[in-house]
Amino acid sequence: MDTKALALAEKDYIIGERRRFHAHPELGTEEYETTKHIAEELRRMGIDVRTFDDITGCVGTLRGGRPGKTVMLRADIDALPIQEADLTKPYASRNPGVMHACGHDCHTAMLLGAAKILAAHREKIPGTVKFIFQMAEEIGTESRHYVEKGCLDGVDAIYGMHVWIQLPTGTVNIEDGPRMACSDRFTVRIHGKAAHGSQPHKGHDSILAAAAVVMALQSLVSRVNDPQNTFVLTTGMMNGGTRDNIVAAETELVGTVRAFDKDFRRSVPELIRKTAEKTAEAYGCTAECSYFFGPAPLINGCHALNETARNAAKKILGESALAPMERQMGAEDFSVYLEKTPGLYAYLGCRNEAKGLVSPHHSVTFDVDEDALPAGAALYAQFALDFLAGK
Ligand code: NI
Repeated sequence: MDTKALALAEKDYIIGERRRFHAHPELGTEEYETTKHIAEELRRMGIDVRTFDDITGCVGTLRGGRPGKTVMLRADIDALPIQEADLTKPYASRNPGVMHACGHDCHTAMLLGAAKILAAHREKIPGTVKFIFQMAEEIGTESRHYVEKGCLDGVDAIYGMHVWIQLPTGTVNIEDGPRMACSDRFTVRIHGKAAHGSQPHKGHDSILAAAAVVMALQSLVSRVNDPQNTFVLTTGMMNGGTRDNIVAAETELVGTVRAFDKDFRRSVPELIRKTAEKTAEAYGCTAECSYFFGPAPLINGCHALNETARNAAKKILGESALAPMERQMGAEDFSVYLEKTPGLYAYLGCRNEAKGLVSPHHSVTFDVDEDALPAGAALYAQFALDFLAGK
């Protein structure tokens, strides 16, 4: 099956779908019309579709002509609470304040393109292909719902992909090892004792203690952490006090933690707790800590699958298509799937300087080079075929 030629033949369909989704963006968990349209398209292709009563998104199942393994291809479908800048584009967002500013419209369209190609040649497929159109990637770990509902049961490999504006059209990045960081949230509540601001010795100043905790937490990065280990700790919020002349009884700190090492990540809540408690104590205060584990680090941990994907990419985009790229400090809830099923995450170049398509993801002027999209559909399809063929 010549997936490259088949995808090029579907170029109008893929770009048309992308533009349709771009014009009608919906926020995470609210992708009702998006899900309805995807399900209709899949059913039109003769693909079984599973939708859900309590969440958006859907899963298509295509059984091939011969028995074999099961591979899952994943697209995320949600948009962002961003107002698109240029409303003169024919496919500009018609939903004020909501925009496909990360490219998930492209993922959805590319995966529909792949489904269409594969469904038309199902008799040649040695196994089963599942298509997961996932809601709410931008929110955190909503992908867990599909795991909990058993959507990944029996899946032997999963492939995810993101259009990437830092990489030129015609290139793709598929590397072994950590590709994205975790994104966790910590909260430290400092309890002190109020007093009049003119008599601070009669209270315990939670703001002063909180300031010391902010400083001490940075020393975890610079002194406790091995400098070879990437670790970011940012205190992004500090809220405390009630009046200018009252020693603040309560102050709250909230921040984010990014890391690639899974074991190290597990140790961070305890490091924060000890540091916050001991520091607060020195100021006569107490600290109460909580920690929310967001998406785990995204690690392309299976070399054989990465090789399958790299070889598939060379077939579609040529021998020199594979581009190196630094791992990213952002996060992706695709990592939730990788905790259950072997798989990998690829980045598809969609940058075109000649066309002025260079705006970063999540910006009000974000847009992609649509010429990259047929290749993306072909990559999805080719990976599925090669995996099922045991290549
Ligand atoms: Ni994204």
